Amino acid sequence: MRWILNELAPDLTIRQAGPDDHPACAAVFLAAYRQAFPLHPPEYYVPERYFESITGEEQWVALQDGRIIAVLSVYWPENFIHSLYVDPAVQGRGIGRRLLAAALARAKGVCELKCDKANKRAVSFYKHLGWREVGEGMAETGPWVRLRK
Ligand SMILES: CC(C)(COP(=O)(O)OP(=O)(O)OC[C@H]1O[C@@H](n2cnc3c(N)ncnc32)[C@H](O)[C@@H]1OP(=O)(O)O)[C@@H](O)C(=O)NCCC(=O)NCCS
Repeated sequence: MRWILNELAPDLTIRQAGPDDHPACAAVFLAAYRQAFPLHPPEYYVPERYFESITGEEQWVALQDGRIIAVLSVYWPENFIHSLYVDPAVQGRGIGRRLLAAALARAKGVCELKCDKANKRAVSFYKHLGWREVGEGMAETGPWVRLRK
């Protein structure tokens, strides 16, 4: 079921995403992913990377003028925010914060997420919003931190 959660501003709508939205979500994901993790070879940045990453998860999107400009994917069984990507062209305008808040409003308890330590911008963003570090680990891609709110 898709439904509109909140009309946060005249030009910003946040709602749950459905399968029809997935290509547009993948485009936003790839643009923001490439910005945050630019060192992969060109063939790494393909829509399939997004489609595979969201299996079993619920997606939420922010739209401006009917266009998807940010996407969040959450795995509810563990209250785990798996990913949050805002179109680079509209970052820094409160869209990531609003989309994250909309997801957290639906959570039944404490939420967690993991973030690459090298992605200092995102780690600072989450800490600014009150997430606190509760763990760390090492992946093939490098060290990560676990954050909780
Ligand atoms: C990280 C990201 C999701 C933030 O979204 P955004 O829309 O640009 O951020 P917002 O404009 O909503 O910022 C919200 C608040 O965080 C603050 N903030 C944003 N970036 C910050 C940073 N690097 N350090 C500290 N605070 C930051 C803003 O000042 C704002 O504060 P306020 O609400 O008190 O005014 C976005 O930049 C992005 O998509 N990055 C690339 C993909 C990525 O790294 N995703 C996270 C990994 S899953």
